[in-house]
Amino acid sequence: MTISDSLRYTKIPTRGSGTIPAVGFGTLIPDPLVTRQATRAALEAGFRHLDCAERYRNEAAVGDAIQDAFRAGTLRRQDLFVTTKLWNTNHRPERIKPAFDASRRRLQLDDIDCYIIHTPFAFQPGDEQDPRDASGRVIYDSGVTLAETWHALERLVDEGHCKSIGLSDITLEKLREIVAVARIRPAMVQVESHPYLPEWELLEFCREHGIVLQAFAALGHAMEPNLLADPVITAIAERMHKTPAQVALAWAVQRGTAFLTTSTNPRRIQENFDISTLPEDAMRQMRDRITTNVRFNAVVETGVPGFIPRAT
Ligand SMILES: NC(=O)c1ccc[n+]([C@@H]2O[C@H](COP(=O)([O-])OP(=O)(O)OC[C@H]3O[C@@H](n4cnc5c(N)ncnc54)[C@H](OP(=O)(O)O)[C@@H]3O)[C@@H](O)[C@H]2O)c1
Repeated sequence: MTISDSLRYTKIPTRGSGTIPAVGFGTLIPDPLVTRQATRAALEAGFRHLDCAERYRNEAAVGDAIQDAFRAGTLRRQDLFVTTKLWNTNHRPERIKPAFDASRRRLQLDDIDCYIIHTPFAFQPGDEQDPRDASGRVIYDSGVTLAETWHALERLVDEGHCKSIGLSDITLEKLREIVAVARIRPAMVQVESHPYLPEWELLEFCREHGIVLQAFAALGHAMEPNLLADPVITAIAERMHKTPAQVALAWAVQRGTAFLTTSTNPRRIQENFDISTLPEDAMRQMRDRITTNVRFNAVVETGVPGFIPRAT
């Protein structure tokens, strides 16, 4: 039987920005009521890192769940790490502070622990989150560069209320460009990563520069090929008396990444927090024997989020 250990409480240091809880709960849940219930269940289970986004259109529901926990006396602000994200239509510097303040207001928080550029792609500025031309093509904004957006985020840090900043859905090449011009380094980079997409090269670069790599879709977003049915993972799970999900999540933390997972099911939420350290040989097997390589989300190529249904 595996003995419960402190893996689930791992905090990863970032250069100059304190530490980030490795175990994170993602709030990409379409229904606001379900979002509030799932977030409450995540906080009760022990999750202390919540990932949010303007684009998920449910920050207020996450904020309500946080307030519920504050009121119940089960959570202190200083123990919680909240990330939220700037959407593609707000990349122009003059739009950033209003977008940031609107997220803070919806989340009912004075400070955001990490504010992330959701994707490196700027879309036509405006209230329409998914701007399209008559042929259905995304309307990009060539009037702003990623570096300009980054420098505007740096100014948010200077002004207070924004503790650290980061990037998401970014390639190693673009990340290098930002790190080269940054006055304030990214604290965190959020990308798709799981045993079928380990992103070792990006992880190595992040390590060298004191950046936390945060893996989203850490369970493969329940898509096919189902990594929770991978024979290497299921064999380790059986041996360790853990579930395949717990093996994939423990692997994520032990190799030095933070992770995000999402569930609306309280039993699975609890399961995803209840991770324990894997033996070295299991870590080696995961690295050497899993050969499937899949990217489930094409957001990194277009800026169009793969897991959010498009409004019709
Ligand atoms: N930056 C970006 O562009 C980006 C993109 C995508 C996601 N994200 C963030 O990352 C978070 C996590 O992404 P994700 O939703 O793809 O994570 P995920 O945990 O890989 O996938 C979630 C799916 O797995 C199922 N699941 C959860 N726990 C399970 C378990 N123990 N056993 C079996 N199935 C399980 C869930 O179903 P049930 O609900 O039925 O349990 C759900 O369908 C999002 O909420 C969001 O915050 C960011």
